[in-house]
Amino acid sequence: MGRLESTVAVITGGGSGLGAAITSRFVEEGARVVVLDRSAEKLAAAENRYGGTVRTVRGSVTAFADNARACSVAENEFGGLDVFIGNAGLWDFSRTLFDSTPEHLDAGFDELFAVNVKGYVLGAKAAAPLLRRTRGNMVFTLSNAALYPGGGGVLYTASKHAGLGVVRQLAYELAPEIRVNAVAPGGMATDLRGPEAMDLSDQPIGAAIPIGKIVRENSALGIEPCAEDYVEAYVLLGSGRESRTVTGTVIDLSGFGIPRRPA
Ligand SMILES: NC(=O)c1ccc[n+]([C@@H]2O[C@H](COP(=O)([O-])OP(=O)(O)OC[C@H]3O[C@@H](n4cnc5c(N)ncnc54)[C@H](O)[C@@H]3O)[C@@H](O)[C@H]2O)c1
Repeated sequence: MGRLESTVAVITGGGSGLGAAITSRFVEEGARVVVLDRSAEKLAAAENRYGGTVRTVRGSVTAFADNARACSVAENEFGGLDVFIGNAGLWDFSRTLFDSTPEHLDAGFDELFAVNVKGYVLGAKAAAPLLRRTRGNMVFTLSNAALYPGGGGVLYTASKHAGLGVVRQLAYELAPEIRVNAVAPGGMATDLRGPEAMDLSDQPIGAAIPIGKIVRENSALGIEPCAEDYVEAYVLLGSGRESRTVTGTVIDLSGFGIPRRPA
């Protein structure tokens, strides 16, 4: 029997990369999942792969109504909601302050924060009434950039630090009914894009830079992680049985807390 048997989850950005890997593991563990993503193509692929175990909603996490639609599908099709996973995100491709125009910083801030921060707050707002009924929980995808500099430029690092604030404040506000936690993965080759307003939406991180090699060469453990390396923490935090004492925490899976030992 899976550890998430009779669990219903909403996963934002579940169309590819880490979100797709979490969806796959959740299904393996017995959960039923609603994926909210902006890509119709990725959602069609998820529906084909999982059949009735996974429902999809096309929309943007930046709109409350789209988050609410995903939660309604969980309620109407699967009978309720136990776990909300806020995961959809944008990266700034480590654009530095000097390399950014004022226009890029201005419009890029709005677009990136709208997804990485507002998207998490609106998702939480849509999910909270349902999670209160089930004594469920939220798990948010942060990043090494939520804890350390150098995992992005100023916009991304600030947005992921803000995500930590969202987690801590909501853990405080929503206790004792709803647990709120986060996972901080490190770099991985995915379809992660940047803001259109900064001309960073055309290429994914995996094609734009050798992210695996960069992580291998700069982290203490010297490995190239993939999305599947990070999913176990979502099962742990999402499961009411396995982590009922845990709220307001971030599990740092990035390995970047320890400097690389000189050769
Ligand atoms: N890839 C990395 O190196 C890395 C490292 C640390 C943290 N993260 C974080 O992991 C999370 C997932 O990113 P990923 O690397 O799997 O990238 P990804 O692009 O493969 O997956 C993100 C998904 O979110 C969807 N999405 C983007 N904007 C959306 C919106 N406004 N509304 C709905 N869906 C939207 C995309 O279509 C995509 O399917 C992000 O929060 C990211 O910041 C990624």
